[in-house]
Amino acid sequence: MILFNILVSIFFASAVLAKDSSNRLFHKAGVANTACTSLIGSKALYFPPKDEEGFCDVKNQPALGTYAHCLVQINETGSISNFIKGCENSELTTTVFWDSYYNATKYLTNASADPNFNITKLYNKPVILTQFEVDAAFQSGLGRWMNYNLGVYFGIILFCYWYGVLFFAGMYNLMCFIFPQLHRKLTGSFINCIRKYITLPALGRKRHAKPFVLFKVIEILIPTRLETILIAIWLVLVLSFNVSRYRHDSPNLFWPQSESAEIGRKIADRTGIMSLYLTPNLILFAGRNNFMQWLSGWSYNRFIMIHKWMARVAFILVLLHAVGMTFNGKGVGKYETRNEQPYVRWGYVALVCMSILVFHSLRIFRRNNYELFLLAHIIFAVFFIVGGWLHTEAVGFAEFFYAGAAVWVFDRVIRLGRLASFGVRPATVELIANETVKVSVKRPAYWKPYPGCHAFIHFVRPTMFWQSHPFTIIDSICEEKTITFYLKVKGGVTHGLYKYLAKQPGHKASIKVTVEGPYGQRVPIDRAQNAVFFVGGNGIPGLFYEAINMAKRHSEKQAIKFIWVIRHYKSLEWFYEELQHFRDTNVEPIIYVTQPDVDFPITKTDMLKKGSQEEKFSILGEKICDENDLSDGFFPIIKGNLPFIQFREGRPDVTALVRDEISNAHGSIAFATCAHESMVDDIRKAVANNLDASPYRVDLYEQIQLW
Ligand SMILES: Cc1cc2nc3c(=O)[nH]c(=O)nc-3n(C[C@H](O)[C@H](O)[C@H](O)COP(=O)(O)OP(=O)(O)OC[C@H]3O[C@@H](n4cnc5c(N)ncnc54)[C@H](O)[C@@H]3O)c2cc1C
Ligand SMILES: *[C@@H]1O[C@H](CO)[C@@H](O)[C@H](O)[C@H]1NC(C)=O
Ligand SMILES: *[C@@H]1O[C@H](CO)[C@@H](O)[C@H](O)[C@H]1NC(C)=O
Ligand SMILES: *[C@@H]1O[C@H](CO)[C@@H](O)[C@H](O)[C@H]1NC(C)=O
Ligand SMILES: *[C@@H]1O[C@H](CO)[C@@H](O)[C@H](O)[C@H]1NC(C)=O
Repeated sequence: MILFNILVSIFFASAVLAKDSSNRLFHKAGVANTACTSLIGSKALYFPPKDEEGFCDVKNQPALGTYAHCLVQINETGSISNFIKGCENSELTTTVFWDSYYNATKYLTNASADPNFNITKLYNKPVILTQFEVDAAFQSGLGRWMNYNLGVYFGIILFCYWYGVLFFAGMYNLMCFIFPQLHRKLTGSFINCIRKYITLPALGRKRHAKPFVLFKVIEILIPTRLETILIAIWLVLVLSFNVSRYRHDSPNLFWPQSESAEIGRKIADRTGIMSLYLTPNLILFAGRNNFMQWLSGWSYNRFIMIHKWMARVAFILVLLHAVGMTFNGKGVGKYETRNEQPYVRWGYVALVCMSILVFHSLRIFRRNNYELFLLAHIIFAVFFIVGGWLHTEAVGFAEFFYAGAAVWVFDRVIRLGRLASFGVRPATVELIANETVKVSVKRPAYWKPYPGCHAFIHFVRPTMFWQSHPFTIIDSICEEKTITFYLKVKGGVTHGLYKYLAKQPGHKASIKVTVEGPYGQRVPIDRAQNAVFFVGGNGIPGLFYEAINMAKRHSEKQAIKFIWVIRHYKSLEWFYEELQHFRDTNVEPIIYVTQPDVDFPITKTDMLKKGSQEEKFSILGEKICDENDLSDGFFPIIKGNLPFIQFREGRPDVTALVRDEISNAHGSIAFATCAHESMVDDIRKAVANNLDASPYRVDLYEQIQLW
């Protein structure tokens, strides 16, 4: 059903695009007509400017005769029939046209030699046009209007490029879905080589998830090598479309004043049109409900990466458009009068908004105050669309902004629908181990989460209800129809919750929440015969859900290793119940504790020491046999209660771990990661470098998303 909807929308979108673009294209025959109109207009006055019939008027023989001569001199196939067809409400026929042509031959006059001639007064004789003038007019017309066409063609290519790439990604996805064996077979030295050097690694040596920092303030998220290549090809296209096939026509009928007026206008036309073709995708790719995500299997992350580059290019194009128009306006002396027109002013509004949008999206602003960034981004984007809309409406190019606005409204409507379908529900919110906020909320039965999904939560509290933040979901295994989020305490909403909960008895409260989701793609990790999950700290929920799910469904066939890296034992406290579920599965859990000696005051340790048997039971979920076990505190007991988990103290050597896993695997192996950025990057590098250590397929699914 979804697929059907997608196909229908793509079909309609391409039909609209094709129809719209074919209406926009200029043909040589039409250019011949325009050139004659302009040329004759510059020679003599045959009818008042508001005359409706113009050159079509069969009673205005001098005008029609001159026009006929001009078209015959241009000698462009189809231009005469095109002209006659264009004269809909007149009695003009082919015969009348040729009669007029031959009659005019007898009366052709050299206007500048005629003493009665005055350019501001209506003239009553056909004028002579030299072949040189006519050719120059036609050529400058071609130079002007074919440049428009180039803008349209180039715009379509830039628009379709991403759909082409996405189409291949989607086909690959589909093939792997239909033929699961195929994916496993894609190995061997050639494919490994491509994967090792192109599709898997980070752009440089290893930095990808961890941002690159320039001058201490500018942080850059570095795409993977594959993303870089895709973006680079697109940028090369953009560049070549902006430097190729510009021509200077002299003498020029439209811009006789100066070459800068002509070239400025040509640059402005082309860049302006190309930027329009970027607009709808710019908005689509930034939306949460972008159907291309479902089709291609690409993460939101990657679309945001493309969105950013597209936005930068669109901004530069619009800037060039403005600069070009300035040169043109100054050259033809219309700079001031144009600037007084509202549509030009709205164009300036759009340009200024774009420059602010591009600048304030730098990661430093996003990271330091995401909410402010988001609010500003929405406001300026609205003004960009309004400005662009009013600017282009005047020249008949506004559809691109209708499309962009429609895409945006569509996304918002779906988001509201998702919120409504979840409803506002009371959630149990608990601060655990002073570092994590656990949110549990009953979900409607039809609202189904899946491994690896995330959702956006709104806490319905006066200070934060408008904010929505993404968190990974676990469909609780402890309670029916309940989803759980584990929020690491950071500086914004999570800090607000932290302060609120710290004051509550038992660090627990009931808060109304509403949830928008689920979002995100399932990664096909369960296809692999061996799965290794690498998670760090609060990254555990999503991959835990995935691992448990996998263990339940294909227990015997697959080997599953689950590695969790935490700083200290107290992190066990908030995930203790869930960890119990690894018992009696074939998952091999390993927990690395990097700073085992750091001791923190833990509420539960106290309870275990002082509380009653029932309380102890409620905490650990089982009986404590020997009271003396408690003297060492909470962790030995916890460790004792998790005998199926291996505990290792110290930092893991991920490179060695990955290498060993790959070389020891019998059958295909997949890694899933969601951990500290530098660890994730180390794993990516290690996987890419060790592809050849196994004869089987090796995959990496990086679940960390940064935007
Ligand atoms: C797909 C996904 C899944 C996630 N799952 C979890 C999870 O299971 N557990 C967990 O603890 N964290 C998770 N996060 C991170 C979580 O979204 C942020 O930590 C949270 O939004 C921070 O809120 P804050 O207001 O306290 O942060 P702040 O202190 O204001 O900001 C901390 C950081 O979070 C980023 N951030 C803030 N708001 C957003 C937002 N709405 N969207 C994207 N980034 C934002 C900021 O840029 C900044 O880098 C996930 C993020 C993503 C994108
Ligand atoms: C021939 O052309 C002349 C000059 O344009 C015009 O005055 C005259 O009416 C035309 N004759 C016919 C028969 O159209
Ligand atoms: C018009 O163009 C055709 C070819 O397109 C050519 O054969 C013909 O000679 C040209 N006529 C004139 C008058 O130049
Ligand atoms: C028209 O007349 C002007 C000056 O009288 C002359 O310079 C020009 O060459 C003439 N044009 C044609 C086409 O005869
Ligand atoms: C043309 O006509 C206008 C009035 O319509 C007059 O002011 C002007 O001087 C005339 N120009 C010439 C060259 O006769």
